[in-house]
Amino acid sequence: MEPVRVVRHVRDMHRVADRMRMDGLRIGLVPTMGYLHEGHASLMRQIGRVTDRTVVSVFVNPAQFGPGEDFETYPRDFERDLAMVHSEGGDLVYAPSTAEMYPDGYATYLEVERLADHLCGASRPGHFRGVATVVTKLLTAVKPHVAIFGQKDAQQTGVVRRIVADLNLDVEVMIAPTVREADGLAKSSRNRYMTPRHRRCATVLYSALQEGRDLVQEGERRASAVIDAMRRRVTLGPGVEVDYITAVDAEDFRPVEALGDSVLLAAAVRFGESRLIDNIVVETERRAVKEIR
Ligand code: PAJ
Repeated sequence: MEPVRVVRHVRDMHRVADRMRMDGLRIGLVPTMGYLHEGHASLMRQIGRVTDRTVVSVFVNPAQFGPGEDFETYPRDFERDLAMVHSEGGDLVYAPSTAEMYPDGYATYLEVERLADHLCGASRPGHFRGVATVVTKLLTAVKPHVAIFGQKDAQQTGVVRRIVADLNLDVEVMIAPTVREADGLAKSSRNRYMTPRHRRCATVLYSALQEGRDLVQEGERRASAVIDAMRRRVTLGPGVEVDYITAVDAEDFRPVEALGDSVLLAAAVRFGESRLIDNIVVETERRAVKEIR
């Protein structure tokens, strides 16, 4: 296997991307903040099946962290990331510095209306403005034919799809299912912060979502009833602080009391220092029937 090439500057990235395109190669991009784990690896494998070259971007984006959030302490291990990209068959790591991405005088940010107002957008003001801006910059730097994002960050995937549609970006967006630990906890770079006690406790996050899913599948359509059941399950654990637990429309993330055919059950919960998010999409039978027709 060829060694993984590291590109640090946007002008070099443009040159390499243009060369690949001239050679008729399909470029796939996996945007990440590094500290790669099995969730990122599954994204690399899935995009590798439909493209000729896999570019993984590694950039801890200050613009998407609020004041007092974990930008400084966000885990970083570039050598380990490189080894993982190599072992998963990736070709190139695009790892710009903060000064390269946001040089002095930088003034342009992208705002996605409505979609970004709920869930994490409500509890992390400015977060999706930072995500929208950096993802757009990564797409214009790497010029991929396909970019892949994880369902674990459901609202992020919605925001990215919106940007691509609204700005007519010439890129296909793929969404990959959430990779979980054996006990159901979604893999996350932030899982490392947890004490063993909180780690054990964190399994309630997914089991609460599963409980919500079962209720919806059994015919419960009142969002408040589903939310109450999930909340009761999560708050059973010690040291647990709920940021949000909700059942919303899966298309636009708007809170609704009467649940429709496609429901997103989503939660953000703090276990000690770690704020973890997770979600499940429930397609009810009516929706499934409509899709088959
Ligand atoms: P990061 O948290 O590093 O995640 C990078 C990508 O991996 C995202 O698309 C995320 O949804 C996906 N991912 C994370 N955990 C996953 C899991 N357990 N299963 C499947 N996919 C998973 O998300 C970001 O970085 C940033 O916001 C970014 C898009 C890079 C912009 O800075």
